[in-house]
Amino acid sequence: MKRTKVIDALKCTAYGSDINVKGWVRSKRGSKGIFFIALNDGSTIKNIQIVGDDANFDEETLKRITTGACLSVVGKLVESPAAGQASEIQATSIEILGDCDNTYPLQKKGASWEYLRTVAHLRPRTNTFGAILRIRHNMAMAIHTYFHEHGYFYFHTPLITASDCEGAGNMFQVTTKNLYDLKKDEQGKIIYDDDFFGEQTSLTVSGQLEGELGATALGAIYTFGPTFRAENSNTPRHLAEFWMIEPEVAFLDQEELMDLEEDFIKYCVKWALDNCKDDLEFLNKMIDKTLIERLEGVLKETFVRLPYTEGINILQEAIKNGKKFEFPCNWGDDLASEHERYLVEEHFKKPVIMTDYPRSFKSFYMKQNQETADGGSVGYKGAVAPGPTMQGTDVLFPSIGEIIGGSVREESYDKLMAEVKRRDMDMTHLWWYLDTRKYGSCPHAGFGLGFERLILFVTGMQNIRDVIPFPRTPRNAEF
Ligand code: 4AD
Ligand code: MG
Repeated sequence: MKRTKVIDALKCTAYGSDINVKGWVRSKRGSKGIFFIALNDGSTIKNIQIVGDDANFDEETLKRITTGACLSVVGKLVESPAAGQASEIQATSIEILGDCDNTYPLQKKGASWEYLRTVAHLRPRTNTFGAILRIRHNMAMAIHTYFHEHGYFYFHTPLITASDCEGAGNMFQVTTKNLYDLKKDEQGKIIYDDDFFGEQTSLTVSGQLEGELGATALGAIYTFGPTFRAENSNTPRHLAEFWMIEPEVAFLDQEELMDLEEDFIKYCVKWALDNCKDDLEFLNKMIDKTLIERLEGVLKETFVRLPYTEGINILQEAIKNGKKFEFPCNWGDDLASEHERYLVEEHFKKPVIMTDYPRSFKSFYMKQNQETADGGSVGYKGAVAPGPTMQGTDVLFPSIGEIIGGSVREESYDKLMAEVKRRDMDMTHLWWYLDTRKYGSCPHAGFGLGFERLILFVTGMQNIRDVIPFPRTPRNAEF
């Protein structure tokens, strides 16, 4: 007999017909010689109930139906008398596909998140992680669909690279060299000419620079792949390996970039509400009672578009009125997450797209705002800043902080090179990037969305380690 998935069996109304389902036992209970099994096969958060008469099964089989065991059940599909489920199965035969003894680590309900991370190989079998992982899949589908429908091409950028996009230097090296016997020059610097690629290479921190090559040829592209950061950030928002979505678009200006950021996030959130109803309802009940309300709220909000300089003014005003922050926030300081959260959660109470950041802590490739004679600059909608600024446009979200980092790109070769000089950057490995500004340069813009940060928002989970199947963080690469 052909197996029916639990999600289909629960919808099926062909009562009286025989059916075969396979899955893992979530629980078994019995009363007056009748047993009830909650069986789940991962196709849905919902279990199907298997009902049977102890008398029809041998004792040995009944003993082996334990929490976590894998079963194949044949029986009759019947309308369920129990509330909250349409159908159940009256079992006629049960085959044990895989036994599960009492050392099974998911025996007890209510295990802590920390404990579940130590059994990451099994935690996808829990209700919560099943829900998160189905939502994660759905978000990937939403992303591909959004860009496909809007005429973007999926562009594959390399994971191994000889350049550092963000210039932050926190990259993982890729080498086949014998680390115990490194060839070095007189100054003690490693020579890579005998390494696999003949030069020093690393895992990419972002596909943006190659993405720009795609955009300046195909018009609009997006990447969606893993990126790697060797930053020693042990926070609930950072992974060493995370997935990033990076659209890059020719002829897009600052305002249109912000439109894209807002429209794209809303599309993804709406997709979750439309396609992940059962899983969201479960998370709303078990994890975060305001989850669905918050997701619906985002769809209704118009995101605030806020120049950094105005943001600093708001923060300074708050300090004057008694608000205490741990870190300073004077003009020129990078915002700490407490500042971002104050703006988003307390001041505006909605998502904020912050723009026109000081040049000092943003990346070299961002479009430079027009400078004024007194050393200031003019940015978004004529807003004046006391120092040089760039058209970075980050999206800040409630409870997440930065969810998107983006910018208009500096398209002028001369301005870009002036910035490179100011930073004393070595551009030997980026000669091809500079070519985009030499040959038919065009205005363009793009952003990077941290996939796991989006999943955090959509699931209401608190720790980024719990929205990716196998998290990679400092001192942890198990599974
Ligand atoms: O702000 P970031 O560093 O921007 C870039 O890499 C640009 N090159 C993107 C672009 O314009 N194409 O990273 C982008 C986003 C952040 O806003 C955040 O959501 C996520 O990537 N992110 C991380 N997510 C998890 N763990 C980390 N360690 C992350 N670092 C960044
Ligand atoms: Mg950033």
